[in-house]
Amino acid sequence: MIDRFQERLTQVEQVIGAETMNYETSEVTAELRELTGGRGPDVCIEAVGMEAHRDGPDFAYDQLKQQLRLQTDRPTAVREAVFAARKGGSLFVLGVFGGYVDKFPLGAIMNKGLTLRSVQQHGHRYIPMLLERMARDEIVTEHLATHVMPLDDAPDGYAMFKDKTDGCVRAVFRP
Ligand SMILES: NC(=O)c1ccc[n+]([C@@H]2O[C@H](COP(=O)([O-])OP(=O)(O)OC[C@H]3O[C@@H](n4cnc5c(N)ncnc54)[C@H](O)[C@@H]3O)[C@@H](O)[C@H]2O)c1
Repeated sequence: MIDRFQERLTQVEQVIGAETMNYETSEVTAELRELTGGRGPDVCIEAVGMEAHRDGPDFAYDQLKQQLRLQTDRPTAVREAVFAARKGGSLFVLGVFGGYVDKFPLGAIMNKGLTLRSVQQHGHRYIPMLLERMARDEIVTEHLATHVMPLDDAPDGYAMFKDKTDGCVRAVFRP
């Protein structure tokens, strides 16, 4: 699991037991390759979306083109996942994109033989099953609700979520 917010990485280590990487202090692609015997991950799940962040020239390029309305979304994390995945691997785009992106590495997808999949969460189909599994304690989500607050405080909750302040992962409002 890759992110830049240490509290999110720590939560994933403690609750899920997954290995984590901070992309601000790691060479992500090189380190993933090293962790996977030089091949790259079998499956990359991109859960970032059109507001991806990164240091470096490719992010500056993406942000400039987005601000000049020459592309609608920043595909920074998708691109990174394409380059990281192993040959013959899979890439799952879970983050939301709204329109057009530039410098999409179709050549790498084709020549590495990647399988590319995506989805919008299919609520009608999956939410009943997910709620049943939560009721049986098979899926635990309490740790995600880092800020539970009255509905009147919703503007503060949204601002905290947007700016990622005070370790906010999810703000939950109680009417
Ligand atoms: N496909 C669906 O059905 C579905 C459902 C829910 C949410 N989404 C989308 O998933 C995305 C994430 O949603 P969220 O609510 O978890 O948002 P969030 O803001 O809580 O999390 C996004 C995370 O991405 C990280 N990030 C930014 N750039 C990165 C990079 N280059 N590499 C690694 N991590 C990076 C941020 O640090 C942040 O922690 C959004 O695009 C959202 O719209 C899709």
